[in-house]
Amino acid sequence: MTNTRTAGPAGILGLHHITLVASSAQRTADFYTRVLGLRLVKTTVNFDDPGSYHLYFADERGSAGTVITFFEWPGAPRGRPGIGGTHHVALRVRDREGMLRWKRRLTDLGLRIIGPYDRHYFTSIYFRDPDGVVLEIATDGPGMLIDEPTETVAQRAPPPALVRGGRDEDAIAALTWPEPVSRIDPAMSLLGGMHHITAMSSNVDRTDEFLRGVLGMSLVKRTENFDDPGKRHWSWGAADARPGSLITYLERDATDRRASMGTGQGHHYALAVADDVSQAEFRDRLLSAGLPASPVMDRVYFRSVYTRDPDGHIVELATMGPGFLVDEPAETTGDTLRLPPWLEAHRDDISERLTGLERSGWPNDGSNPERGVMSHPRAALHASDEAAGAAS
Ligand SMILES: [Fe+2]
Ligand SMILES: [Fe+2]
Repeated sequence: MTNTRTAGPAGILGLHHITLVASSAQRTADFYTRVLGLRLVKTTVNFDDPGSYHLYFADERGSAGTVITFFEWPGAPRGRPGIGGTHHVALRVRDREGMLRWKRRLTDLGLRIIGPYDRHYFTSIYFRDPDGVVLEIATDGPGMLIDEPTETVAQRAPPPALVRGGRDEDAIAALTWPEPVSRIDPAMSLLGGMHHITAMSSNVDRTDEFLRGVLGMSLVKRTENFDDPGKRHWSWGAADARPGSLITYLERDATDRRASMGTGQGHHYALAVADDVSQAEFRDRLLSAGLPASPVMDRVYFRSVYTRDPDGHIVELATMGPGFLVDEPAETTGDTLRLPPWLEAHRDDISERLTGLERSGWPNDGSNPERGVMSHPRAALHASDEAAGAAS
């Protein structure tokens, strides 16, 4: 994402990170590095629960907006999406060609891919990580501004040919890259980070009061859920609506099920603020609005304030700095267990409680993805199908 701070009052700079819950640190590391080509940029523990891993995947340096993190909760129940929770996270790819190459690569690895769906403002494919997290790869273009400027967003219905029931599902399913794709070439790179995060709301007007009214984000699109026409789907972001700044909410009936925390679910999402001064202003603003705001928490790589959206989803405001290279060099960041200064005295105890973690090298062009899909449920299904076939 662009880190440039525009003139005027300090605002939300874009997405900072998303934190999800995994059942196995090793399986998650294998998938995000070997299959998707991200870097394990920091290996640490959950500062609030130091017996469990907290892994950060990102671009080479852990730039804000590229960071996807996981708490490892072995044995935790599987979470499920719903109101007050995250629905999915989308990663940016440069163009449609790169996206189709991803479809071919991931299909050949045994994953089930849906799409490419033309979302009017971008084109997307969808799949799941080994714990069931819904991931999307979305093109940068044509962008949210193709049909209106953000100053005057109107509630608009999607083009009928793009919604469920109006699109040619067979043609979409058949569309893929014609050649096998054995490595992640630069046109496919996902190191540009997140395109958007999508959460679920019982009332997007109330969500708007929070994101626009309190946090000062721009409401950049008011449309409908292309897969569930008639249900509102709104997006907020920077005024220029650039990928990497976008948070979107799907509206559900207020009586629909709520999210439950667990593996394969989002824990919280974090928006980027410039610095401590800006963060303190936002904290005051939250408290003045009668909303929860945690004390400032030192996360070593950034500082955090936590609040909740109107449906109870945890939302963090994280500073841009000091960044992930504050305690180890770019060449080797992520390679060894890092602990915050206040936990160093307990390093032996903590290390003993953690399982070993085998890392892939960096840079990673994805040419050895097998370990990353070995324990993916979809790949396992294929393997057992073959075994059953051989036995019969
Ligand atoms: Fe999406
Ligand atoms: Fe966080």
